[in-house]
Amino acid sequence: MKAIISDIHSNLEALQAVLADIEKQRVSQIYCLGDVVGYGPNPRECVDLVMKHCKMVLLGNHDQGAMFDPEGFNGPAERAIFWTRNTLENSPENRTARERRWEFLAERPRSFKENGLLYVHGSARNPLNEYVFPEDIYNQRKMERIFSLVERYCFQGHTHVPGVFIEETPDELYQFHSPEELDYCLQLDNRKTLINVGSVGQPRDTDPRACYVLLDGNSLYYRRVEYDIEATIRKIYAIPELENFLGDRLREGR
Ligand SMILES: [Fe+2]
Repeated sequence: MKAIISDIHSNLEALQAVLADIEKQRVSQIYCLGDVVGYGPNPRECVDLVMKHCKMVLLGNHDQGAMFDPEGFNGPAERAIFWTRNTLENSPENRTARERRWEFLAERPRSFKENGLLYVHGSARNPLNEYVFPEDIYNQRKMERIFSLVERYCFQGHTHVPGVFIEETPDELYQFHSPEELDYCLQLDNRKTLINVGSVGQPRDTDPRACYVLLDGNSLYYRRVEYDIEATIRKIYAIPELENFLGDRLREGR
C-alpha cells in the first residue's frame, strides 16, 4: 500500500499528524506531490521529514518559487516565499544540513511515471502550474486535453481541493466527486481518473483536517486527520512576514 501526500506548505503539525496516521497503516511507500514549503512556519522541519520518509517527491510551484524567482504569486504568498527562502538559506545549524535541503529541493522532478500511473503537482499538461478545479468539468476542451495525456490514473495536488475527476466514455463527459460523496473510498476501474489527493497543510474544501490518500491495488482511500491547528496558527501569527490570514484560513479550511 502506498500513501500519497501533497501540499504540506511548511505545516509541521499537520505533517506529523499525517505521518503518525500513515504509520498505523500497512504503508510501504510514501509519495509526495510537491509544495513541501510556502505559506507556513516550518519549512526546514518539513523538508527534513519529507527527505527522511518519502520515497518520491515532486517539485511544487512554491518549492520552485523558494529556490528561484517567484512568478505569478500574490503579495502574501510571495512574501511567504521570500521568508521561506531566507529561512532555508540562513538556518543556524551547520552548512551541510542547509546544503542538503537545498540540493534536495533543486533535484526534484516535475512529474513521475510508474506502472502506468502518472504523478504531477498541477496537471498532466502543465505539471508545475496548472490548476484543475472541480468546476473545470464543464470546460470540455481543457478536460479533453488533460485526459488525453493520461494513460489511466493521474495523481495530482496544487488546488488543495481533494476529489476525483472521472471520464465517462463514450460521451466523454466529466464528473467530479468529493471525498464525502465517495464515502472516502473508491474502486478505480477502467475509466480514466484524475485523483486530487488534497492538501496536508492547507486544505481548501472547508474541512480543516489534513488530507491525503492511500492506494492499495485499485482501492483508493481518502484520509482526514485532525491536528493541532491552533499551534500552527500561533507560529504564523508570531512571524511578521507570514500574514495572519494564512493562519486564520487553516481554521476554516479555505
Ligand atoms: Fe500548494
